[in-house]
Amino acid sequence: MIKSPRGTRDLLPPDTALWNFVDAAVRDVFRAYNFHEIRTPIFESTELFARGVGEETDIVSKEMFTWEDRGRAESDRGHSLTLRPENTAGVVRAYIEHKLWDRGLNKLFYIGPQFRRERPQKGRYRQFYQIGAEVIGPASAGSQSPARDAEILELLATLLDRVGITGWTLELNSIGSPADRAKFNEALRKALEPVVGKMCADCQRRAVTNPLRVFDCKVPEDQPIIETLPNIGQFLDETSRAHFDAVKQILDAVGIPYTENPRLVRGLDYYTHTAFEFTHGALGAQNAILGGGRYDGLSEALGGPPAPGIGFAIGEDRLVLSLAATAESVTRKPDVYIAPLGVGMNREAARLARELRRYDLVVELGDETFRLKKSFEAADKIGARYILIVGENEAAANAFALKHLASGEQVIIPRNALAQRILQK
Ligand code: HAM
Repeated sequence: MIKSPRGTRDLLPPDTALWNFVDAAVRDVFRAYNFHEIRTPIFESTELFARGVGEETDIVSKEMFTWEDRGRAESDRGHSLTLRPENTAGVVRAYIEHKLWDRGLNKLFYIGPQFRRERPQKGRYRQFYQIGAEVIGPASAGSQSPARDAEILELLATLLDRVGITGWTLELNSIGSPADRAKFNEALRKALEPVVGKMCADCQRRAVTNPLRVFDCKVPEDQPIIETLPNIGQFLDETSRAHFDAVKQILDAVGIPYTENPRLVRGLDYYTHTAFEFTHGALGAQNAILGGGRYDGLSEALGGPPAPGIGFAIGEDRLVLSLAATAESVTRKPDVYIAPLGVGMNREAARLARELRRYDLVVELGDETFRLKKSFEAADKIGARYILIVGENEAAANAFALKHLASGEQVIIPRNALAQRILQK
């Protein structure tokens, strides 16, 4: 038997109803905040992620699905392509490619699959889905303001509330400007020098190339050493500190609770200033339901103009895992099961189904070869509210027997009154 690849999964009904419920709810929220949808390719040039996300990150150094795409002609040079492990780099690439700064501030959202070769476990997959948003534009359009950071965080609180997720924690930190980061990296290098020999091979390399990434280490033996390292907070200059304070003041004013986590540095290199994660207790080890932050230098790193930005991505798989709603509670059951009775009645039933569906009723259609008992069983099985019996006599009278399955009440209703009757409940 051929099975789906490791770390991937099929989303089946009725669970897909939960996913659709989430998609519809978040689209409503994005509309209220004037965000517009963007769809970028699911694969991009490998270089985009190397430059955007960072060579030394786990994502780029270990987790990408990359292949060499040779041209069709012998003379074509190969080109390295990668299934997107995240969507921020792609959105910023599109921003630059289509000169989206002409529109001032861009508020974009996306919903779609991402790919990382991680060890699969609950809440961690190799194909997973993100609901993300990015606010990006020239500083003159206000893209650098702490008001953007706070609005993004308030949007997230609203969004989680809207889909019915309670009990989340917003963890907040600032990782400062590139200059602050350089000072911090220097301090980390110094602090690591005497101890790094006892750490894992990855950390030994990171200590030289990108010390901040030492905080991504998951090796248990390294944790006591990592605990002794300094915090980025001590290295923020006045401007960075003022930005962070302004974000927190707006959050206080709008009543969004948060916990400061000085160790939160996020696993991607493009972040500056505000960095955050929302965690949820129901998720176990993979407890980050979403993550995000500011990335003021990313556009320039990808060859674009200065374009400060901030965004987030929700792990939709994890969001659905922490939902209180059940698939049943968001699935619409059929309003009516139409039971054609006897030879030639499929035609009449098809006409009726077409008429009723125009009223936005959910209609399931039986078959004229079924005995009435079998039609009743089928209507019961799918949870239809009514069964409509379409026999020769009914067709001749143009009035049909409509039975309410829960109460057993049966009435004859003229054709032109059927939809209204079924809509009444
Ligand atoms: P990230 O923290 O790498 O950030 O991913 C965001 C969220 O995606 C995580 O919090 C998690 O819920 C989900 N996620 C990540 N990997 C997996 C996986 N293997 N299986 C299931 N869910 C997963 C980003 O991707 C940034 N692009 C977010 C961002 C947007 N920052 C600024 N703008």
